[in-house]
Amino acid sequence: MRRMSGYYERHIFFCLNQRDNGEECCANHNAQAGFDHCKQRVKAENLAGPGGVRVNKAGCLDRCAGAPVAVVYPEAVWYTYVDQHDIDEIVDSHLKKGQIVERLLLPAHVGR
Ligand code: FES
Repeated sequence: MRRMSGYYERHIFFCLNQRDNGEECCANHNAQAGFDHCKQRVKAENLAGPGGVRVNKAGCLDRCAGAPVAVVYPEAVWYTYVDQHDIDEIVDSHLKKGQIVERLLLPAHVGR
């Protein structure tokens, strides 16, 4: 199932940025909890590591209006999520099988 074309088959980055000036930011929308849950799920599903999936923290990805956001490479698919159920779906569908979770896609026009 695992391919070794790149060091990781997929890479998901979670913005965890916190702003102190009152502007919108991912940290105000439970981004840390989403990141932590994703990390745990990827590990529990035995997806983590070379040839598999890497879950990384990121600073601001400049799409804050859709907070919280995460992006999956190599497909460059952007998500916005609400709870652990959403994260589970991203793990089970996209990170595991390469199937994009349409209902969680960040609309193309959403920026900062
Ligand atoms: S604060 Fe998360 S994308 Fe900017």
